[in-house]
Amino acid sequence: MTRKVTKAIFPVAGLGTRFLPATKSVPKEIMTLVDRPLIQYAIDEARAAGIKEFIFVTSRGKGALEDYFDHAPQLEMELAQKGKTELLDTLKNTNMESGAVAYVRQHKPKGLGHAVWCARRLVGDEPVAVLLPDDVIAAETPCLKQMVEAYAETGGNMVAAMEVPAAKTSSYGVLDVAEDMGHMVSVKGMVEKPKPGTAPSNLAVIGRYILAPQVLDNLDSTQAGAGGEIQLTDAIAKEIGANNNVYGYRFRGQRFDCGSKAGFLQATVSFGLAREDLRDDLSQFLQDIAISQQAAE
Ligand code: G1P
Repeated sequence: MTRKVTKAIFPVAGLGTRFLPATKSVPKEIMTLVDRPLIQYAIDEARAAGIKEFIFVTSRGKGALEDYFDHAPQLEMELAQKGKTELLDTLKNTNMESGAVAYVRQHKPKGLGHAVWCARRLVGDEPVAVLLPDDVIAAETPCLKQMVEAYAETGGNMVAAMEVPAAKTSSYGVLDVAEDMGHMVSVKGMVEKPKPGTAPSNLAVIGRYILAPQVLDNLDSTQAGAGGEIQLTDAIAKEIGANNNVYGYRFRGQRFDCGSKAGFLQATVSFGLAREDLRDDLSQFLQDIAISQQAAE
């Protein structure tokens, strides 16, 4: 029997320089996708997967994130008085239970592995999920829920995986596949940001992980790797040699790279089109643009 996954780490310490000047005063994770901050999508996905404890690895200047998770009694009272029950529900959905949220600071930007390691004492001796909020995944069954279900069978360590074009592999952690079972692969190696032409496959790691506590122990001694940073990929890869229990999970869903401007815009359009209240106006607008662009060519 594998242990239930009830804790999740959200690394949110990044500076968000790709979105300057917006991120000069607003944490990237608060930036809005349609009408919800990016972080809310990751929280909702974690909740749907049964996560009860939420650990944020933050850094200087991320105060707005803590406020976002706080209850807003004044606002709630006003909405209740005005009978705006739908908005009130939306707002309440952002509230986190007292004691369910913990914040830990990453004092130096030493990489994703280091950020996860900063949360080690809050995790203890149990499996933990890691969600990178930049990776937004639209899916009928939320991605982490799919993984938790698969993990109940495998145990060990699981990373979300997706085929990417060969030219893009150098932007990701890439899996060396031992056995391909279709929706899942067993992994015999992992390389963070392989140099062009050297990737072991096209199967890239996407920002959802379920990790055994050993990975956090491995991070104690993981040296700086790709880009001079302490890489989570390297700490997971150590488990292949030691326990041979690393799996890649090909999730069902569409992933948007909201760490890039193009990805953020694509997600905005796609999530907008998925919304009943916005669909008609937005799709009309998109058609009009396409027509006028064609005419101009
Ligand atoms: C991180 C991980 C990488 C993974 C990627 C997915 O990289 O280090 O293994 O493939 O997220 O988005 P980053 O995008 O932070 O450079």
